[in-house]
Amino acid sequence: MPSPFESPCAEIDAQLSNRVLEITINRPERKNALTKAMYSAMAQLLRDAAANSEVRVVILTGAGGAFTSGNDLTDFLDGSASSEDSPVFQFMTALYEFPKPVVAAVSGVAVGIGTTLLLHCDLAIAEDHAMFQMPFVNLGLCPEYASSLLLPRIMGHTKASELLLLGNKFDAQTAANVNICNEVVFSGEALGRAREYAQELAKRAPEAVRLSKKLLRQGTYENGMAVIREEALHFQQRLQSEEFREAATAFMEKRPADFSRFE
Ligand code: COA
Repeated sequence: MPSPFESPCAEIDAQLSNRVLEITINRPERKNALTKAMYSAMAQLLRDAAANSEVRVVILTGAGGAFTSGNDLTDFLDGSASSEDSPVFQFMTALYEFPKPVVAAVSGVAVGIGTTLLLHCDLAIAEDHAMFQMPFVNLGLCPEYASSLLLPRIMGHTKASELLLLGNKFDAQTAANVNICNEVVFSGEALGRAREYAQELAKRAPEAVRLSKKLLRQGTYENGMAVIREEALHFQQRLQSEEFREAATAFMEKRPADFSRFE
């Protein structure tokens, strides 16, 4: 019987097995950078998974030794990337509203939205060589999808300021220390560990799991949506800025960005 979870996009794989839907970002030649088609596919899969009682847990992972290098930077250049009807907004709100547990398995890079989306997963497992970064300021951009709300909450204001304002890379142990991930495992073991957790979760009483997830999030849920909308407005404006244009051009030209002329 064909799976009800056929991905509409070649760079997103979906596999349902034992009540766990595994969604794999599969564009390794670009370190799994996410395009509009990939966001749309993942949004659709999450919406279908939310409505299908055969799915009790979702695993999010990446193929080829990367989680994701974040939004495809060339996709950002047309300026429409984060409006409310954009594919990324649709995906992130589908994840934000997703009623069942999501387990992330992080191998390699988790950059930009690759780190942000972990704040909306319920468990995250990272391999010891994984690399995290929220380089929004370095790109002339700003925090997104409630990270300005959730990061200070989970790690304190001081650390959140460091990670968001400097935008430097950090390793898996740091990610665990600041509660972005639950556990650090050896190279090649994240997906296996995520599957173990997913199977455990899939055996628990499903309604109790969903209610517990909802209760855990209720302190930030309503406020979170308002923050997501406000951040998206700023982000959208930043995409039109000269600061972003300089950063994106520098990335394409493989040189450091030069912000010295800006006030
Ligand atoms: N968008 C578009 N292309 C990307 C990309 C992205 N977000 N991330 C990586 N790529 C491309 C690279 O340009 C490179 O292309 P090339 O082979 O034509 O040169 C290819 O993917 C492989 O990446 P590379 O930079 O060689 O891998 P690396 O392991 O040395 O570094 C990263 C990986 C993720 C640290 C680095 O690619 C990077 O910083 N990417 C940008 C991340 C980013 O700013 N995301 C947006 C956040 S809002």
